[in-house]
Amino acid sequence: MNPTPSTPQVITHVAELQRRVHAARQVGRVVGLVPTMGALHEGHLSLIDASTAECGLTVVTIFVNPTQFGPNEDFAAYPRDLQHDLSLLAGRGEVLVFAPDTATVYGARHATSIEVVGPALPLEGEFRPGHFRGVATVVLKLFLLVRPDRAYFGRKDYQQTLVVRRMTDDLHLPIHIEVCPTVREPDGLAMSSRNVYLSPEERQRALAISQSLLMAKHLIAGGTLDAATVTARMRERLTAADLKIDYVALADPDTLEGVATLDRPTVALIAARVGQTRLIDNERIV
Ligand code: PAJ
Repeated sequence: MNPTPSTPQVITHVAELQRRVHAARQVGRVVGLVPTMGALHEGHLSLIDASTAECGLTVVTIFVNPTQFGPNEDFAAYPRDLQHDLSLLAGRGEVLVFAPDTATVYGARHATSIEVVGPALPLEGEFRPGHFRGVATVVLKLFLLVRPDRAYFGRKDYQQTLVVRRMTDDLHLPIHIEVCPTVREPDGLAMSSRNVYLSPEERQRALAISQSLLMAKHLIAGGTLDAATVTARMRERLTAADLKIDYVALADPDTLEGVATLDRPTVALIAARVGQTRLIDNERIV
């Protein structure tokens, strides 16, 4: 009989975290970092598996970062279940969980933040002002606390990966950023911690998001290269499912500038609300 795999150790204090990371380094282990806000699902686990495959120690951070939520967003309601998260991590290799409280990450007199412009400005930057300031600030803090060799992010949050890469390059951080593919439910819905908010009926309607990304690919394969035509069809599909669109963008994968003719590398990005729940998704379409 196999013993039940033990759940990973949870560290809440910086000194202990750094002692453990230092000890791993001393014996020559590569250190990987997977920053998360918890409510773990297969998307997160794919990043953790990528890290444990490449790194001798993986630090998974679980921290619902208040500074990346707007005043009318779901910070208070965001799903939190540390015990369940830990059970999902059981037996996944050399994993250490860092789950600090807010005061540990943001001291009482905290007054510093990181402002990335460029790829942080359009799309999410317009609809969630201050969001990427919060993301960049917490990611840099986690980078400096853990000092990993490698850090893993999901393509699901495409614009976030551009912002993190920009910051890492601009500040000459000696960290290799790894971007992993989007993990989807069998019916195409991109996995997200926010999917738990969806009623069964909303979950069904939310499929219009991944379906419209797929439709864009089909239209292009069929010879439709006019971005405005493709965008209009995607919007129709989303609206037919009674989704409220924040944006549908066909953009350059590096700069996020709009693409007019789909004869060059293009990523399609969607943000839409299903009832009260705001979902984002994206796919490379060219
Ligand atoms: P969170 O939404 O918890 O996501 C943590 C990481 O998991 C991110 O890199 C995200 O892109 C990745 N991820 C989420 N869903 C995924 C999916 N379906 N497939 C693949 N990867 C997926 O993103 C954040 O937290 C925060 O902004 C954070 C970076 C932790 C800073 O607070």
